[in-house]
Amino acid sequence: MTGDHYFTAEPTTDAQPREVEFSVADRDYRLASAGGVFSATRLDPGTAVLLRKADLPAADTTGELLDLGCGFGPIACVLADTAPTATVWAVDVNARARELTAANAARIGATDRVRVAAPDDVPGDVHFAQIWSNPPIRIGKEGLHDLLLRWLPRLAPDGVAWLVVARHLGGDSLHRWLADQGWQVERQASQKGFRVLRVTR
Ligand SMILES: C[S@@+](CC[C@H](N)C(=O)[O-])C[C@H]1O[C@@H](n2cnc3c(N)ncnc32)[C@H](O)[C@@H]1O
Repeated sequence: MTGDHYFTAEPTTDAQPREVEFSVADRDYRLASAGGVFSATRLDPGTAVLLRKADLPAADTTGELLDLGCGFGPIACVLADTAPTATVWAVDVNARARELTAANAARIGATDRVRVAAPDDVPGDVHFAQIWSNPPIRIGKEGLHDLLLRWLPRLAPDGVAWLVVARHLGGDSLHRWLADQGWQVERQASQKGFRVLRVTR
C-alpha cells in the first residue's frame, strides 16, 4: 500500500500494466492502463455516461479540444478518433497518466494530433473549441472550483464544455456554482446517478 491518490504527480504504486476495453459510438477501444491512475481496470461509469450522452464532436471539427484530467486517456482517444482534423490536448497532473495517454494516442494512430501535457505546459494562447472533463472531484470543492476557473475561461467564444459529475459527489451544486459564475449550464442528461452538464458562455 502507498498513499497515492489518482491525482498524485509521480505515482509510486506498482505500475502493473493493464488493458481497458470499451466501445463508444460503435467503435471499439483497447487502451493501456496501469496502477496509480484513475479507474485503471475499466472505463469509469461516469466517463462512459459522458461519452454516451454528450454530443461527440462532428467528424469535420477543427481547432483545439481539451480533455481536462485525461487519466489514461479514454476521452482524449475518443475525441481524436471522432474528430480526426482536430488537435486534442490531454492534460493531467499525474505523470503516469500522461505516459499512458501518449501510448494510447499511438495505439489509435493519433500521436500527431494528441498533445499530452502537464497543466503548466499548455501554451497560454491556446483556446478550446470544446473542453471535456470527468473532473477530479476528490481534490475537494475548492480545488475543483480553482481548476474550472483556470480552464473554462479558455473556451473559445462559441465553445462548449462537457462535464460529468456524480450527483452524490455534488453534480447539482456544481451546476449551481457554474451558473452563479455566469456560465450557461444545461443538464444534458442524467443517467446512473451521473449528471452530464453542457457549459457555454
Ligand atoms: C476523475 S479522473 C478522470 C480521468 C479520465 N479522464 C477518465 O475518464 O478515466 C480526473 C483526472 O484529473 C486529474 N487531475 C487532478 N488534478 C488535476 C489538475 N489540477 N489539472 C489537471 N488534471 C488533474 C487526475 O490525475 C485524474 O487523472
